[in-house]
Amino acid sequence: MKFTFYNPTRVYFGIGEFERMGELAARMGNKCLLVIGQGSAERLGFLKRAEDMLADAGVNYAVFRGIESNPHLETCVEAARLAIEQKCDFVLALGGGSVMDACKAIAVGFYDPDNLWDYINHGQEKVTPVKQALPIMVVPTLAATGSEMDPGAVITRWETREKCVIWSSALFPKISLIDPALTVSVPLDYTMDGVFDMAVHVMESYFNGDQEAVLQGRLIEGCLLTVFTEGKKLYSDPENVKLREKVQWPSSLALSGFFTAGRDGNSPVHQLEHVLSARWDISHGRGLALIMPRWMWYVLPTNPAPFANFARNVMQLSSKGNDLEDAQAGVRALCDWLDSVGLFLTLDDFKIPAGELDAAAADCLRLYDRGQGVIGGVKPLSLEDVHAIYLMCEMRDFMR
Ligand code: NZQ
Ligand code: ZN
Repeated sequence: MKFTFYNPTRVYFGIGEFERMGELAARMGNKCLLVIGQGSAERLGFLKRAEDMLADAGVNYAVFRGIESNPHLETCVEAARLAIEQKCDFVLALGGGSVMDACKAIAVGFYDPDNLWDYINHGQEKVTPVKQALPIMVVPTLAATGSEMDPGAVITRWETREKCVIWSSALFPKISLIDPALTVSVPLDYTMDGVFDMAVHVMESYFNGDQEAVLQGRLIEGCLLTVFTEGKKLYSDPENVKLREKVQWPSSLALSGFFTAGRDGNSPVHQLEHVLSARWDISHGRGLALIMPRWMWYVLPTNPAPFANFARNVMQLSSKGNDLEDAQAGVRALCDWLDSVGLFLTLDDFKIPAGELDAAAADCLRLYDRGQGVIGGVKPLSLEDVHAIYLMCEMRDFMR
């Protein structure tokens, strides 16, 4: 086991903590670019309250509206140009993962708007390293991606439908102000997409990472038990702010390094999903719900042990005394859980044409194979493997 653990984000967490925004923003700088999505922050009154708090704290601001879900490179460049014109000295995200990610791209684009795509790893020979970025403060309004405590952002170059990651320690938010009350208004489908997204973040490490990192494995099991149990309760009681609070912290910690340091592996499920959300603009968490059980079923014969542990320790199934059978039972249990929260889906639910999946598989390898000719993970996936997993997404009864 070998790792560097570093997480400098200062977190302020709790129901009602949003009211501290002005005071905390004043510690960040004199003028911010206040960035929101496509209308929810305005409609719900969060923007107005944020503007009032900034004004009361003596922090100047310019507002950028209109970050898309699966944020576009082009929009981030436009926002970065506004930040330059307005002489902002920090960026403030008020929104879901898309807004937080966009703010990280804006923070880099502020110093080099013409070349922002070069900093994002899209399979090019050399990724430009981030040398400077504006300081970032985030106020998440949706529990899902963990962008509030990680140094990454996922940005889509819309004209080529390429969705790729920028990851740099310069992009950790300096302040993350996490108020679960802001998430009560998230519609039920996005709520459950978010719950499954946070689960998949740690599942990727659990299955693909170093199995010797046992404490991290136990922490992940605890995280997953919490997310699956509380997430299911939230599905029947979405206005319950205490349940919102219970899934918020797992979301924030999932990619912070805390659960995964030393157990970091590849993220094949994310890579297969990112192609789908780039091409068909679907919700990230919903795309993961489509891929995850199929990927598990496809790869588990390679090394059933971690999948069997998942079945026993997370899905809490009793053992049949055989790793392979236990592992398969775990996938069935996961599908039952997905079904119970409206997330057991097929390609039809997304209107994705199966005939375009070979091109999608080619994109996946081209963008994410890191020059290896395969998508990494517990079973390295060739082009044919990726295509086969996509095709399984046509079927509900793929577990045969
Ligand atoms: O755009 P607005 O109007 O704000 O509406 C959003 C959007 O329609 C709405 N929403 C957000 N907060 C709300 C709300 N509606 C009502 N009440 C609220 N309080 O919810 C919808 C989805 O928002 P979005 O930000 O797109 O969702 P999410 O947080 O799931 O972010 C998804 C993006 O994050 C990337 C994904 O790929 C995707 O692009 N990811 C980022 C990661 C990271 N930075 O580390 C890791 C993840 O694996 C993921 O890839
Ligand atoms: Zn994710």
